[in-house]
Amino acid sequence: MSDLAPSLARSAAPAAATPEAPPALDVRELWRSLPFATGVLDILRGITFRVDRGEFVAIMGPSGSGKSTLLGCISGLDLPSRGQVILNGIDITHMKESQLASIRNRTVGMVFQAYNLIPTLTAQENVEIPLYAGNHPGSPSARARELLELVGLGHRLGHRPNQLSGGEQQRVAVARALATAPPLVIADEPTGNLDAAAGTALLDLLGDLRRRTGTTFVVATHDTSVAERASRVLHIADGQLVGDRRQDGHRDL
Ligand SMILES: Nc1ncnc2c1ncn2[C@@H]1O[C@H](COP(=O)(O)OP(=O)(O)OP(=O)(O)O)[C@@H](O)[C@H]1O
Ligand SMILES: [Mg+2]
Repeated sequence: MSDLAPSLARSAAPAAATPEAPPALDVRELWRSLPFATGVLDILRGITFRVDRGEFVAIMGPSGSGKSTLLGCISGLDLPSRGQVILNGIDITHMKESQLASIRNRTVGMVFQAYNLIPTLTAQENVEIPLYAGNHPGSPSARARELLELVGLGHRLGHRPNQLSGGEQQRVAVARALATAPPLVIADEPTGNLDAAAGTALLDLLGDLRRRTGTTFVVATHDTSVAERASRVLHIADGQLVGDRRQDGHRDL
């Protein structure tokens, strides 16, 4: 993974947190409860926090504590049972799917824990997909190739997901999340399947992006090397926020 090409930084200058600017993310009293067996399972139990623009927030917590569920609600893919999710000042909680899809396409890049690549498409085509929705400048194929080169996969453009290793699929998923240069990137265990060198290179890439564009990152992780680079660490346990620590001496992501 090489230095970040200038053209990757499509957003204008870093979005400074001004008093008028809404936070990148505002999560209020979020609950997600599902009917299960004979009762109701409360997966998220009243989570509240705000993320300012340009923050890099690591979400940590034991397996099963609700991290992926929280990210699903934040990205508008799962519906909370109660509470609100406000993205960049826009309340997405009760939005119609058509409206939500457009906001998601413009505002949020998502890296899923299970990658969620389209199996019949090549690596390059998977990265192009978000660029065909909405009105994005430039050539989708050139942009996809550029991003795949940045994540070290310039030699795997024509491979389909089942012809890629787990770590390579993960890097395709990261490239896809960055394709539209979204102001907010949500990632679920983005280094979970990478070796130490590839993990460090990916974090360097995200750090470069953050410095150049003010992109906000919210990342669920078990990886302490990710958390070390975060400007803030949220801890969740059993569906509740149990810790919120700002890391003044953090290594800039
Ligand atoms: N659709 C569902 N129906 C029933 N239970 C669910 C459903 N989705 C998630 N859960 C339960 O909710 C809890 C939280 O799951 P979640 O995937 O958010 O955990 P996580 O913190 O991301 O865990 P991990 O670190 O293992 O990825 C788990 O106990 C899981 O079994
Ligand atoms: Mg998870």
